[in-house]
Amino acid sequence: MADVRRNYDIEELGRINTAHHFQPFSDSKAMAEDGGARMITSASGVYLQDGHGNRLLDGMAGLWCVNIGYGHKELAEVAAQQMMELPYYNTFFRTATPPVAELSAKVASLLPDNFNRVFFSNSGSEANDSNIRMVHHYWQTKGQPEKRFIISRDNAYHGSTVASATLGGMSAMHKQGGKLVPSIHHVMEPNIFKFGINKSDEEVGAMAAKALEDKVLELGPDNVAAFIGEPIQGAGGVIVPPANYWPEIQRICDQYDILLICDEVICGFGRTGNWFGFETLGIKPDLITMAKGLSSGYLPISAIAISDKVNDVVVSDGGEFAHGYTYSGHPAACAVALRNIEIIEREGLVEKVRNETGPYAQRLLKGLEDHPLVGYTRGVGMFGAFELVKNKETRERFTPAGKVGITCRDHIMRLGAIIRPCGEAMVFSPPLTIEKAELDELFGLIRQALDATAKDWGVM
Ligand SMILES: Cc1ncc(COP(=O)(O)O)c(C=O)c1O
Repeated sequence: MADVRRNYDIEELGRINTAHHFQPFSDSKAMAEDGGARMITSASGVYLQDGHGNRLLDGMAGLWCVNIGYGHKELAEVAAQQMMELPYYNTFFRTATPPVAELSAKVASLLPDNFNRVFFSNSGSEANDSNIRMVHHYWQTKGQPEKRFIISRDNAYHGSTVASATLGGMSAMHKQGGKLVPSIHHVMEPNIFKFGINKSDEEVGAMAAKALEDKVLELGPDNVAAFIGEPIQGAGGVIVPPANYWPEIQRICDQYDILLICDEVICGFGRTGNWFGFETLGIKPDLITMAKGLSSGYLPISAIAISDKVNDVVVSDGGEFAHGYTYSGHPAACAVALRNIEIIEREGLVEKVRNETGPYAQRLLKGLEDHPLVGYTRGVGMFGAFELVKNKETRERFTPAGKVGITCRDHIMRLGAIIRPCGEAMVFSPPLTIEKAELDELFGLIRQALDATAKDWGVM
């Protein structure tokens, strides 16, 4: 494990955390009654260590972000060097810094030839907000301000700010007042497991794409500005769409002159076995959102990439873009992101996932289908999901909804690994550095957790 302070008073830290820390996506009261948060104190490679000395295989790469794994000292050194040279300067009002210029060019070099410009933010949520601003700026500059509606999908995740939470399709977030932007609309997700009973994958793909076309016609094509989608919906449960889905979406966007935004916050930087998910799925986006794997989570940074089609309007005719964040293109974060990309290249992580460990992980995932609790598996590259069911034939779920996933999550954590429930879909998304032996360990623990879950729920 990494060389870190080892004299933590974990009990005291747990107490002050429970008393003073309002945690995201957590029920603070229930957590306090349950003994508080698990304190993670150090990490190396694909393993985390908690304050009680337990080792956990991180099957989620943090929050789908630590693509290069933990413990790369090089990134700490790059950050320290940059902070000593220039800890901060902004990118507003015609100033820039060397790292932001270099990172812009580097990101552009990873993208197709028609992408040459990058705008920086600090999180995936903010980047999606920036994309909304960019889309409106584009259509207004083009003299078509009535093109203002943005269409997204149910069960999508695009972030947690007011606009990005509205953009997402998470019902729990919408219920808490997270659906406040009236110009954002949703259509069904291309979910084979959910909608595919007595239907072929193709039929689900066609139905989900038709939902977009119907919505465009309902709103009026002249009023629709953009469609946004994750190439593969991550937090929705690693929803791998049917093969005919994205080509149809592309046709609809092209036909009705709608900008296509690919949210690559999870899929980007190697997760699907290519640098970006749009390559794996054969999509031609106009705008791209990226975060997470851009810096492997070592420092917060995100970006949107702007195609020449958008650039030629907003840069040639748009005047000043009245948008930006104090930390857009933060020099230390840019320096770290740049080195992170170099590490992905140097270690051949994209090729490793595409040719070696990705197919291996997918075989292990498929192997779970013989388990009585597993009704369906799906995945690409280095992430995937398995659906927990009560009845494999009818796809009947356990009740109450969502609880069996928590049982499975708790068992695997007790056994020494982290994977995550998205409802009844258990998802994994480890660092791209994970080796085959570590995948064997992860899937061995998953099988043990499934057996224990089945016992608890009276199936075995
Ligand atoms: C596809 C996608 N977009 C956007 C976001 C939001 O990113 P952040 O949490 O950095 O704001 C996430 C976060 O999980 C995501 O998965």
